[in-house]
Parts: sequence; structure tokens; C-alpha cells
Amino acid sequence: MAKIIKTQVTIVGAGPAGLLLGQLLSKAGIDNIIIERQSQEYVLARIRAGVLEQGTVNLLDEAEVSQRLHQEGLIHHGFDIAFNQHHLHLNFKKLTQGKHVTVYGQTEVTKDLTQARLDAQLPIFYSADDVQVNDLLSPIPKVNFVHEGQSYQIHSDFIAGCDGYHGICRASIPPSSIKEFERIYPFGWLGILSDTPPVQEELIYGNHPDGFYLCSMRSSKRSRYYLQCSLDDDVKNWSDERFWDSLQSRLPSTLANGLVRGPSIEKSIAPLRSFVAEPLQYGKLFLAGDAGHIVPPTGAKGLNLAASDVFYLSTALKAFYLDHDGALVDNYSNTALKRIWKAERFSWWLTNMLHHFPDKSSFDQRIQQAEFEYLFSSEQAQKALAENYVGLPY
Ligand code: APR
Ligand code: PHB
Repeated sequence: MAKIIKTQVTIVGAGPAGLLLGQLLSKAGIDNIIIERQSQEYVLARIRAGVLEQGTVNLLDEAEVSQRLHQEGLIHHGFDIAFNQHHLHLNFKKLTQGKHVTVYGQTEVTKDLTQARLDAQLPIFYSADDVQVNDLLSPIPKVNFVHEGQSYQIHSDFIAGCDGYHGICRASIPPSSIKEFERIYPFGWLGILSDTPPVQEELIYGNHPDGFYLCSMRSSKRSRYYLQCSLDDDVKNWSDERFWDSLQSRLPSTLANGLVRGPSIEKSIAPLRSFVAEPLQYGKLFLAGDAGHIVPPTGAKGLNLAASDVFYLSTALKAFYLDHDGALVDNYSNTALKRIWKAERFSWWLTNMLHHFPDKSSFDQRIQQAEFEYLFSSEQAQKALAENYVGLPY
């Protein structure tokens, strides 16, 4: 017999989207339960990007989980963008009237959110098996799962599908009620983490005839680097030495001098994809974060978009419960999708500009070169890039 539990909002997935939503709802006095398929240790070990827009930081402030972020996060007022031997410093302060981003790993954001939930003793089921969402069009949708051998059924007013791209929430929507838009890129990113000081204090995004590269960091002592690689490549083909040699040869020579080599502590290959599902609602189920959309990591928008979805969804649910106003809930999908598509456009554009496309014609190559020449010579173009990078308003 399934044990029945009642709550107001059931959240599927304890990634940053689910945890942040849970925290914001709890602060507003709205009961919620989180169901996560993986163990807590597994969720906390995942390595992802680490550039936070100010809007994301503001939300983490509101959720009261930002103390460590403000102590350890690095404020960045710009980055470098390079094309072959040329590079340009984008100064956000000047280009966006004083805005900045904060470099703080998503792994750390997840840790802080998890700790806050555990400290407040709010309900969360890790290692849940056979998670299913049912009765989505009824006034009381259900979430079924098995935890430590016991079957459970949660009855709530709403289900938030925060279970990532491979989750079950989006997959439970009948295909006739959802439309998917997708672009898969013909390359991957090989990433390494190493306990070495970064090449320079700010990030470097670059395009070289051998492909894209990115120099990022987690702290002044830990670097995160990426190289474009082919999709069928294998980390086994990449000794540390080969990685450092390739990165060194792609960097403009003036920046390559700052590269400090050391043993990698993590090495992995990730594919790049753009994806949006529309609408982000089916009956009482609402999708947020990677469950509803994916961006290629080039603009560092994944976590930031999850945060803006959570902003819209938590604001809508607060209006529903506290002001008895359902209009924002009904509009959630439309409102969130407007910002999502703008971030999709930006991430797609930056990906096109910075990568070597294997099937590119000589015309395409000249267009890419012209894109850089325009950016390097036009303050308006630099402003547009910087405005998107620091984050469009909510
Ligand atoms: N039941 C319960 N939980 C599930 C299920 C399921 N059937 N399927 C997946 N999950 C969990 C995953 O184990 C994961 O912990 O949902 C969580 C989804 O988390 P993320 O994939 O981190 O997605 P999200 O919270 O939307 O965060 C978006 O994370 O993936 C990055 O680039 C992305 O930065 C972005 C951010
Ligand atoms: C990272 O630090 O992992 C990172 C930074 C910026 C990106 C992508 C990844 O655009």
C-alpha cells in the first residue's frame, strides 16, 4: 500500500532549479516536498559551469543561501575574447553601466542550497525509485515513487518538474501537447579541472583554427579549461600533456605565457545542444530549468536560466497562495519562454562565433571573421554582447 502524503507543491529533482524553488517557496510559507532520483552524494559531486548573473545572485540572497558565495565568489568586471592572435577585453563596467558577474561553481551553489534545506529540516527524498507523475489534468496531481522499499503517493496542488533534460516530467506530457525545438552541434567540449592558478584573473573565450577554447576558474588556485573536440573523441586520447600543449597553441602568444600546467583532477567530454520545449506547462505540471530547455555552455546561461525560471514560477506560486491570484501561474510558460528564447539566441550566436564548424564553407569562414572584426571595432556590438552576458533583466 502506498503511503499518502499531502503538500502544496511537489518538486521533482534536487538540482539547482528544484532546490532553489523549494527554498524560495519555504521562505514564503508554502509547503513543498522534493523527490530526487540520485543520492545526495551523487548530486553534490556533479561539476558544472560557474558564472552567475546578478539576478541569480539576488535570488540566492533572497533564498538566504549566499553567505559563502559572497565570501568566496570572484567578482568579474569583464572577460577576454580572442580570434587567432587578436584579443579584445570586454569591460562590463563600461559597457553595461557598472554590472558584473560572479564566478562561483554550480557545485558550490548546489551544496549551499542542499545544506540550507537539511538545516531547516525540510522534506527531501533522495534515491527515490520509479518516480512517476500522474493525474496531471486533475485538481490534485500525484507523484508516485518508492523510497527504501516503501511506496509513496504525494497529493499536491502543483508539480514542479525540475528533473533536468533526462527527467520524467517532460516525458510524461503527451507528445501532442508539447513541441520541441532542437539543435545539436557537431562537436563537444573537453573540460579539465586542475589545481593551478588561472592564466589570468578573468575568463578567456577564444576561436582558433584548431577550434574553440575557454580558460575559466573556480578560485585563484583552481582552473577550469575547455577545448573543442570531436564528438567521437575519448578522454583516453587526451593525456594532460596533450591537453596543455593544445591549449597553449590555441591561446594568443601574449596570453599563453600565463598558462601554468599541472595534473588534471577531472577530465570529461560534453556534447553541446540547444533545446526548448513549449509550453512549459501541462495541466498542473510546470517545467523549470533543464527539464524545459538546454543551452550550449558557451554563454554560461544554463544555471542562470534555471534561476530565472524559478524566479517566475516562485513569484507565480506566491501570488496564487498569498494573494489568491492565479494569473501569473497561468502565464508562467509565456513569461519564462520570452527570456529563455533570448538566452537561447545569445548562446547559439556565441557558439557559432567561437567554434570551428567541420562543414563550414569558405563563405561561412569569412562571415565568422567579419563577426569578430565587427565586434572588435564597434562599441555597440560589444555592448550587445556584454548586456547579454551579464544577464538580461527578468
Ligand atoms: N525523479 C527525480 N529526480 C530526477 C529524475 C526523476 N525521474 N530524473 C532526474 N532527476 C534529477 C537529477 O538526478 C538531477 O539531480 O533532477 C535533477 C535535475 O538537475 P539538473 O540536471 O542539474 O537540472 P536543473 O536543476 O534544471 O539545473 C540546471 O544544471 O545541468 C545544469 O547546465 C545546467 O546549469 C544548468 C543547471
Ligand atoms: C566554467 O567555468 O565551467 C564555465 C565558464 C563559462 C562558460 C562555461 C563554463 O561559458
